[in-house]
Amino acid sequence: MIRELRQLWEQRASRRAFRAEPIARAALVELFAAAQRAPSWCNVQPWRVVVTEPPRTKQLADAMVAAARAGFPHAEIPFPLDYPPPYKEHRVACGVALYQAMGIARDDKAARYDAWLRNYDFFDAPHVAIVACDRRLGPYAYVDVGVWLGYVLTAAAALGIDTCPMASVAAYPDALRAQLPIGETDVILFGLALGHADDAAPANRCRTTREPVEANVVFC
Ligand SMILES: Cc1cc2nc3c(=O)[nH]c(=O)nc-3n(C[C@H](O)[C@H](O)[C@H](O)COP(=O)(O)O)c2cc1C
Repeated sequence: MIRELRQLWEQRASRRAFRAEPIARAALVELFAAAQRAPSWCNVQPWRVVVTEPPRTKQLADAMVAAARAGFPHAEIPFPLDYPPPYKEHRVACGVALYQAMGIARDDKAARYDAWLRNYDFFDAPHVAIVACDRRLGPYAYVDVGVWLGYVLTAAAALGIDTCPMASVAAYPDALRAQLPIGETDVILFGLALGHADDAAPANRCRTTREPVEANVVFC
């Protein structure tokens, strides 16, 4: 079992170009129903999720691209301003891997801007899930939603559904709230693009690495 699970996780990667064909509603329900088994503190199950289907996804994408072009990001949970070591190196390596895959030079600001903007059309994915959490529960509920995301990513990989989590879309909460039923007590955490990857797209050649376990786990 662990070998199969590790294989699934090795093969999973964030995909940043999608084909147009939608995922059947039944498959989406199966995915999110599987992830309902995610544990949470006191079993509060705090994830609040809105999933779009065509043509709604494109309408939302148009609004998000317009918002991203027009205004400064203002996420409800502030994004990190600085990444101290060793996180900075990991972040840079992640960016380098993506831009290299896409053939974008380090100093090509216009191409980097366009690549960033692709977050807001959800990389052409036919579906996006906007994930929020009741803000009254505090930070441990965010931990719960992170656990849930791991379940969703794993279940999606098992179902042959490609994904890209996107904190970037949380930077424009007003545009999301104008289009979607998101409660006032809920804080928007991230989006999740869902669909079938365009395997021919350069962005989808990007692969990231991981540190050996000793970098993160200490036994004593
Ligand atoms: C909570 C979360 C937010 C993320 N936000 C973005 C994002 O805004 N844009 C993006 O292109 N990738 C985003 N990612 C994808 C990460 O960059 C990616 O998971 C990481 O580089 C590891 O690569 P892998 O998913 O291909 O294994 C996010 C991932 C997570 C878990």
